[in-house]
Amino acid sequence: MTDYRSEIEKRRTFAIISHPDAGKTTLTEKFLLYSGTINTAGSVKGKATAKHAVSDWMEIEKERGISVTSSVLQFNYGGKCVNILDTPGHQDFSEDTYRTLMAADSAVMVIDASKGVEAQTRKLFKVCGMRGIPVFTFINKMDRDANDTFDLADEIEKELGIAVCPVNWPIGSGKSFKGVYDRNERAVFLFSDTQKGTKEGHVEKISIDDESALIAAIGQDAYDKLTEELELLDGAGAEFDQERVDRGELSPMFFGSALTNFGVELFLNYFLQMTKAPLARKSDQGQIDPFCGDFSAFVFKIQANMNKAHRDRIAFMRICSGKFDPGMEVYHVQGQKNMRLSQPQQMMADERHMISEAYAGDIIGVFDPGIFSIGDTLCAPGKKFAYEGIPTFAPEHFARVRQMDTMKRKQFVKGIDQIAQEGAIQIFRELTGGMEEVIVGVVGVLQFDVLLYRLRNEYNVEIALERLPYEHIRWIENAADVDVEHLVGTSDMKKITDLKGRPLLLFINSWSVGMVLERNEGLKLSEFARN
Ligand code: G4P
Repeated sequence: MTDYRSEIEKRRTFAIISHPDAGKTTLTEKFLLYSGTINTAGSVKGKATAKHAVSDWMEIEKERGISVTSSVLQFNYGGKCVNILDTPGHQDFSEDTYRTLMAADSAVMVIDASKGVEAQTRKLFKVCGMRGIPVFTFINKMDRDANDTFDLADEIEKELGIAVCPVNWPIGSGKSFKGVYDRNERAVFLFSDTQKGTKEGHVEKISIDDESALIAAIGQDAYDKLTEELELLDGAGAEFDQERVDRGELSPMFFGSALTNFGVELFLNYFLQMTKAPLARKSDQGQIDPFCGDFSAFVFKIQANMNKAHRDRIAFMRICSGKFDPGMEVYHVQGQKNMRLSQPQQMMADERHMISEAYAGDIIGVFDPGIFSIGDTLCAPGKKFAYEGIPTFAPEHFARVRQMDTMKRKQFVKGIDQIAQEGAIQIFRELTGGMEEVIVGVVGVLQFDVLLYRLRNEYNVEIALERLPYEHIRWIENAADVDVEHLVGTSDMKKITDLKGRPLLLFINSWSVGMVLERNEGLKLSEFARN
């Protein structure tokens, strides 16, 4: 067996999804603490940056040359090589956030125990559902007064449409949070001495059968409540089923407090056991086995102008099979030529460093002289297959673009097309009285600022954006079968086309989507545009 096989088997590549403030950064940091990557918690960079206001985000991006949006953390733990992909939540939520999920093999969903399922979790979860990747739930902040545990489980099942299977169960919450009961080991894990979460702390394990020791440790009331809840749970909860987890139908659920480290290591251990090494991925030539020996990867994100002086672009790619050696020749399928990838690098939080080798499951960033597009495939010379395209995600904010200086039409078109090609914005066109209007759609509003800033600085073009009230977008899936011209619409509906000329509809109200479907028999609408 070649050495790359064992390297690939060690890989676990996942993204953490959460609503802002649920504790994603804190949990990530604790993973680093337990892996020995950092000695004391409280030092992960990026968090402060993520909280900066929109206005200075650009400055930060410029000064540091790279934004936190590009970070991929890699660390070793328990014999596994773990890649955590960052899915920015806060201000810089954008299509990249979604696309990152295309490069992940599984997702960890962090939920604030006192808030339950929140808006952003819902959105990100949808993308996980679309891909059918395993989703693990970590209910965080149990050191604060939490919602009822059964209610939390119910809410996830109802709101997200995924069954949950609690792997452990919390004992109390807030000031009376004692630890968690591990259903598999049939033991209670009590935590102490984590020095406010900066150190691993002391863990005490007591078997559920050792009644007196348990009562002495957590008190009679907590013991009674625990045994009662466990009885209920055994009768009502879903059984753990690895195959359902693999298909993304069942989410193993864990409880803890990232801040105080309670339950973090337990979670990490189970999670790494229950997730899989990189799996085969679909291409137009069938499934590509990660262990097949030949290198292959696809581009899931392109980040422009990280270095102002060089105006470079970095293409981030997920390696799907084989091993990557810097300097090796690869075939760029969409460009139809062999090439060498320049300056391959890996991102560790905010720092870039050159890599000497990388394997299926890893993410690398390479210098892009403007040849890559999102979704492109790279493979070994002599092979020709393309990985499934990355869908275009539905923008949620729209604006009409007005060009201030009509003399600069050429630069404007070039700029806006290039920025759209990188996938930062989506461009649509509408035809009104012979005048072609440009509408931009974005997933996160910050992208509007990015657009203004980049057109001004890189293309010397001033534009004004007039926000439009549309919030819902649907591609017409079966445009060939329906009479798009004569669709029976609603008063808040607008017909436009995307860059590829595909017709789509914009709506102000979500209920109008249903009305239009009702009024036009046979019409098929989709929230994603398959490329
Ligand atoms: P995010 O990346 O998902 O946005 O969340 P982040 O980890 O930044 O956490 C958001 C806030 O919640 C932080 O407080 C953090 O300390 C707190 N937090 C995270 N996990 C827990 C937990 O298990 N229990 C409790 N009680 N709090 C938790 P902050 O006040 O915004 O920041 P800081 O000043 O404490 O750093």
